[in-house]
Amino acid sequence: METAHAAVTTRLSDYQPPAYLVDSVNLDVDIRDGVTTVTSELALRRNPEAAVSDTMSFNGEGLVIRSLALDGKVLEEGEYRYENGELLLSGLPEQATLISVVDIEPEKNTALEGLYMSNGMYCTQCEAQGFRHITFFPDRPDVLSRFCTTVRADKKRYPLLLSNGNPVEQGEEGERHWVTWEDPFPKPCYLFALVAGNLACLEDSFVTASGREVALRLYAEHRDLDKLDHAMASLKHAMRWDEQTYGREYDLDIYMIVAVSHFNMGAMENKGLNIFNTSCVLAHPATTTDAGFQRVESVVAHEYFHNWSGNRVTCRDWFQLSLKEGFTVFRDQMFSADMNSAAVQRVNDVDFLVNHQFPEDQGPMAHPVRPAEYQKIDNFYTLTIYEKGAEIVRMQYHLLGAESFRKATDLYFDRFDGQAVTCDDFVDCMEEVSGMDMGQFRRWYSQAGTPILSVTSEQSGDTYSLTFRQQTPPTPGQSDKQPLVIPVRLALLDKAGEPVALDDTGLRETVLILREQEQTFQFPVGQTVTPSLLRGFSAPVVLEFDYRADQLATLLAHDTDGYCRWSAAQRLYFAALDRLVTGHGKAEDEALKLAPVLEQVIERAGEDAAQAALLLTLPTEVALGDRHTPLDPSAIHAAHQQLKRALGRALQAQWLSLSENLLATELQMDGVAMGRRQLRNLALDYLAAGEHKEAARIAVELFELPLCMTEELGALRVLVHHRLPGAELALKQFAEKWKEEALVMDQWFSVQASVPGETTVESVAALLEHPAFDWKVPNRVRSVLGALAGNPSAFNTDEGYALFTRALATVDALNPQIAARIGNAAARLHKLESGRQRAFRTLLQGVNDKASPNLSEVLSRILGSR
Ligand code: BES
Ligand code: ZN
Repeated sequence: METAHAAVTTRLSDYQPPAYLVDSVNLDVDIRDGVTTVTSELALRRNPEAAVSDTMSFNGEGLVIRSLALDGKVLEEGEYRYENGELLLSGLPEQATLISVVDIEPEKNTALEGLYMSNGMYCTQCEAQGFRHITFFPDRPDVLSRFCTTVRADKKRYPLLLSNGNPVEQGEEGERHWVTWEDPFPKPCYLFALVAGNLACLEDSFVTASGREVALRLYAEHRDLDKLDHAMASLKHAMRWDEQTYGREYDLDIYMIVAVSHFNMGAMENKGLNIFNTSCVLAHPATTTDAGFQRVESVVAHEYFHNWSGNRVTCRDWFQLSLKEGFTVFRDQMFSADMNSAAVQRVNDVDFLVNHQFPEDQGPMAHPVRPAEYQKIDNFYTLTIYEKGAEIVRMQYHLLGAESFRKATDLYFDRFDGQAVTCDDFVDCMEEVSGMDMGQFRRWYSQAGTPILSVTSEQSGDTYSLTFRQQTPPTPGQSDKQPLVIPVRLALLDKAGEPVALDDTGLRETVLILREQEQTFQFPVGQTVTPSLLRGFSAPVVLEFDYRADQLATLLAHDTDGYCRWSAAQRLYFAALDRLVTGHGKAEDEALKLAPVLEQVIERAGEDAAQAALLLTLPTEVALGDRHTPLDPSAIHAAHQQLKRALGRALQAQWLSLSENLLATELQMDGVAMGRRQLRNLALDYLAAGEHKEAARIAVELFELPLCMTEELGALRVLVHHRLPGAELALKQFAEKWKEEALVMDQWFSVQASVPGETTVESVAALLEHPAFDWKVPNRVRSVLGALAGNPSAFNTDEGYALFTRALATVDALNPQIAARIGNAAARLHKLESGRQRAFRTLLQGVNDKASPNLSEVLSRILGSR
């Protein structure tokens, strides 16, 4: 059977600068019910950097042409070509003015790219290639233009008309009005934004380090006005932090954020006018979990930081996406570490990388941080670009040290201000400032896959030696792998857990820079030690070391490095779980072995409850499954349940007292209080897993009188996931109480779709039929299908596959980007045992035959891998 669309591949090696530049754009967006008319006036100039040509290509998707005029002369139909999303004009002079008038239909736009409607307001999403759905334009990030935008709409229904920059003029015409916005900073069109609606505003201001006053305006639906304070506080913190840490000030007089309910991603950094998914900006203790609060803080900061890392200095082409995203994720991670507990932040970031990006690297979608080719760029906003990209920047930060790194970023921002550049340009700055040769380091950008670093130790007399072997497994289309530069921060701990001297200067921690496939290092250490390796997760590698259980216990109990403690706990859990999966252990015995170590963690929980919670959390079923091929999800599920239950029992006194004693009497939103709630929810979960008779009572009490959403949802989750008495009633009450709060209802859907066990497929089927389910709202779709995808024992059933693939096709018809993202959940196809694999493959093939180009790229890769 033929696929619905021929795949078009774009290659980095084919990059050509644009034939013409667009110095300025005058846009007039005339919004009327059903049809919006966009008039654009482009000032074109031949690009001195390109080979001389009189032909220029403009992108345009789904535009209905009303007229085209070049230098005042109307173009007749034979004088241009518009096909396959491309408008071609030939015979252009050195400079020219192109005026186009087109019609678009934002009301029908369910793909949510370009101009679309969300809950009665108009908004835009242009990254990566949405602008071509609005008007004809060279829709590529290396064309930077000055934008002047007039928005026109009905006065009553759309009193608020926004675009990038500063408002310079406004007026009224009967029932309608208009506002003209000017953005003084040249920008690529993916940073264009426009909003027309009736919104409430929280206003504040910020005085920059140099004394300029910036108006800060956060917009949301009127009912959500009380949920904007946290975002405002986060924004001000981020602005100050970027001044202090990177010396970067905000550059316009206004900074706006608009919250919208329909959004494909988390948020978007449009110049001066960020547009956010409501889930990443609205926060109130009654409706938002603590994790939600932290997410808002980091996303607000992330988009703000893009003003320099992305907007003032942007990407030459989309292959360089990690230049802005990897760097900006690193910046937001460091910001969050400074605002909260740095150790906890790092463990959370590493946990995310290891449990989500590493699997991507091991599957059919593996690609380098700077890919060499893609079909749909939307599919390349991946964990590899973002999270691995951030780790690569972090390694450079540590290689140079904070001070040199700052000099290098100063150089980068100053040298490339107002330009569209490459990842190599960034590394060049690191190289120039430090004098280091970064040649080999650059392989991190071009080589896909997670390196495996196997370490062995040897003690002979007064010398302790460590041998490191690095090897990167082949990835699709890249079989030969070269050695990478791998910084390994380490210490050697004695029996009491104290770091010993590593040389005669008394150094107790060092960083080894590996460059070769195999390297050995010797230390003048005579006593028995436990190596504390890869401290702070100094490189994004899989570290293999044959730790003994007592060594892991030492690390967990004594290491001062948060990552190494967490990693030791993970190793202990995985070892126990692996034995249960393969039938070599008994859950009760494993729990008894783990208990004393975990008891110590619990005893010290007062030092940092959030860290204790991380150390006490079992790896997920997905993570466990990834260690076993062929994958038998039922066996994984059983092992996981057994260990959790056994730990619930072995430590039931501790779980009970944590559940009861961590109870707060008044609401606080600081890190300490949040850590205590996290630990308490975890303890209650273990208590219920161990079938303790008090679990249901405590959960119901908490559910009925919660201080905040973290408590309410934590209690609901325990009731529902452990099928405790009262669960059904709680679900009903919760839905009744929160039916008007979409973001809370998303949680209600996702709690149910994530109940471990096969029968959950039936509830998911029912959820998809629920009156509050809406296929057009990405948050709602994710809350069910995303949760199902992370629930392997339900997902990997005949019914699960059938439901998932049917849903995938439904989503694809409305929103291909979301379908492609959800389609990634099938990436473990090739690891499944043969029966399941055959069944799933057939269903996926059926969807792929009719899939959009976005979804088809993902499914074809998955189906093509064995
Ligand atoms: N530039 C992206 C948003 C984006 C990505 C829009 C792809 C369109 C297509 C934005 O800066 C971003 O990275 N947002 C993240 C959240 C962030 C905190 C990592 C997102 O939306 O998930
Ligand atoms: Zn970003």
